[in-house]
Amino acid sequence: MKTQLRSSRVVIIGTGAVGATTAYTLLLRERISELVLIDANKEKALGEALDMNHGLPFTGGVKLWAGDYSDCADADIIVIAAGASQRPGETRIDLLKRNAGIFDSIIQNIVKYNNHGIILVATNPVDILSYVTLKKSGFPTNRVIGSGTLLDSARFRYLIGQNKKINPRSIHAHIIGEHGDSEVPLWSLANVAGIGLEFNEQEREEIFNSTKNAAYEIINAKGATSYAIALALDRIIVSILQNEGSVLNVSTLLTDYNGVSDVYLGVPSIVDRTGVRQVLDLQLGDAELTQFQASANKLKSEIANLEL
Ligand SMILES: NC(=O)c1ccc[n+]([C@@H]2O[C@H](COP(=O)([O-])OP(=O)(O)OC[C@H]3O[C@@H](n4cnc5c(N)ncnc54)[C@H](O)[C@@H]3O)[C@@H](O)[C@H]2O)c1
Repeated sequence: MKTQLRSSRVVIIGTGAVGATTAYTLLLRERISELVLIDANKEKALGEALDMNHGLPFTGGVKLWAGDYSDCADADIIVIAAGASQRPGETRIDLLKRNAGIFDSIIQNIVKYNNHGIILVATNPVDILSYVTLKKSGFPTNRVIGSGTLLDSARFRYLIGQNKKINPRSIHAHIIGEHGDSEVPLWSLANVAGIGLEFNEQEREEIFNSTKNAAYEIINAKGATSYAIALALDRIIVSILQNEGSVLNVSTLLTDYNGVSDVYLGVPSIVDRTGVRQVLDLQLGDAELTQFQASANKLKSEIANLEL
């Protein structure tokens, strides 16, 4: 039987491809008790809520409705998936100007009603917008989390699993840094049951390029990515609400971490009821360290142009 917390409310802001699929995933998992959908396009949120509510006879006890910001008052977790998404050929950084603007009003509306919950950011560029959320909300660092490189790491594990013919759940492998073009594959730590994995140069190049370019490929093919990001967000939400202490590559504020400070990046972190409880120290190879610091510098130079 699934353990459902007695009263756990998740609010999703932005009910497009990512937000609506995340809502549907949470509904199927039945790990939360209340789910609220908010969108600038009220009709869209209403339609999604109605459609999902009609599935309740087949699922179970989640109470779900299209709401407004006052519903954030009792929220344990507020997911932000609102804003522009990549068009074919656009990078995530290309979205910064458009999405940083809408975060002003979204964060203001959240903090009007909630100062105790956890804000989980999915909108791209997710690392920079998590930093923006931290600064604008005044929330403590542990309670502002970005989905980070959890999805990228899942793609990496899937592709390594395909290469080695091993179930991806048994592959331990991490992508760290930006959720985007400067992300860093940690080949030195990839393992199965503690046994290091060997790859030749061509395999490394193919696996990493397919990982890094996955979103471009999917967006070209079907216009948006939705299922795997929804499962990744569900994973983070459940780890928080069930106080799991799972290690997830979420985006979090780094301080004196492998020479990097004052920027949000995806790194393995312990996630529990407090949010990000602890960032795990990593022993990076020389090349990995250089790439990680370059990823941080890239994002810091973008942040420097923002008014925060
Ligand atoms: N973090 C990740 O790993 C990851 C993965 C996939 C997509 N994304 C990002 O998630 C975001 C959403 O992607 P999508 O494909 O769902 O886009 P979408 O266009 O399908 O949906 C966006 C929704 O946001 C709503 N919206 C816009 N401005 C709003 C506002 N001010 N307040 C409330 N709602 C507002 C729109 O009405 C729309 O319904 C994009 O930035 C995308 O790049 C992140």
